Amino acid sequence: MERPLVEGFHHLTVLRDEVVRALEPRSGGVYVDATVGGGGHAEALLEAAPGARLVAFDRDERAVEASRERLARFGERVTIVHGRFGDVAQWLASAELPAVDGLVADLGVSSPQLDDATRGMSFRSEGPLDMRMDTREGETALELIARLEVDELADVIYQLGEERRSRRIARCIHQALEADQLTTTLDLRRAVVRAVGPARIGGVDPATRTFQALRIAVNRELDELTTLLAALPTVIAPGGVAALISFHSLEDRPVKRAFVDRDTWERLSKKPVLASLEEAAANPRSRSAKLRAARRVSA
Ligand SMILES: C[S@@+](CC[C@H](N)C(=O)[O-])C[C@H]1O[C@@H](n2cnc3c(N)ncnc32)[C@H](O)[C@@H]1O
Repeated sequence: MERPLVEGFHHLTVLRDEVVRALEPRSGGVYVDATVGGGGHAEALLEAAPGARLVAFDRDERAVEASRERLARFGERVTIVHGRFGDVAQWLASAELPAVDGLVADLGVSSPQLDDATRGMSFRSEGPLDMRMDTREGETALELIARLEVDELADVIYQLGEERRSRRIARCIHQALEADQLTTTLDLRRAVVRAVGPARIGGVDPATRTFQALRIAVNRELDELTTLLAALPTVIAPGGVAALISFHSLEDRPVKRAFVDRDTWERLSKKPVLASLEEAAANPRSRSAKLRAARRVSA
């Protein structure tokens, strides 16, 4: 059981030992945690190699605070950056750091982001329609909805939520907006239910895909991933390892594609690494996790 961090910040790290096995951190090595969150992978890597250094990124201020507290005991071995992983190459260059020995990215959202109603990412509790991971920048979900035409909103819900009923849903969301009945997460859920009914399909709430789509769009999650994947060959030194954990096919597909180039990458396993039965039983979120790792081949 992991201990709670900054009050209210509790995230169970997924595939923790598997990430350490993939990166094999060594004393003197420099590593990047692109998504430090509560600091679970970061801590495991720093513990595994007492002389290793780590640069950790997160775009969420609360994750930065929580991980600073958890990783404080590692002192100067760790640098925590409040920023996007899409900027990792520029950050390392401006810090005059050479390519690193390994990088982990544990994509998507953390449990505290979902559990904190004020973030507006969950349909389970009432909160503002915000959904931004970094509240310093960008449009909120409500601003995004208000800016998009119905067809554009339907495309977002279809493409990023893989939701077949996207047109109907987008129309109902816009009707709610025009009637001044779209301010909170529960208003959004109600609009989706008006469009498709309350039935849970396969145990999944009818609003799940719409919320996922809007969150991915608000945070430009796939653009960030594309930028990170393009930067990996520069960021990782020959012999170093990149390990990415994805939670849905929109993330997993580009990760899989990025490692296909055999001149650049040697995959550590052909199939993605999945959570063990024990982990899946203890942490339902781990059931959809896929870890793909590859070693940067020498030129
Ligand atoms: C699944 S959590 C990471 C949990 C962490 N590995 C742990 O064990 O505690 C994902 C984290 O990635 C962050 N994140 C998502 N997209 C990001 C991006 N483009 N740049 C930086 N951080 C990002 C989120 O804010 C969130 O804190």
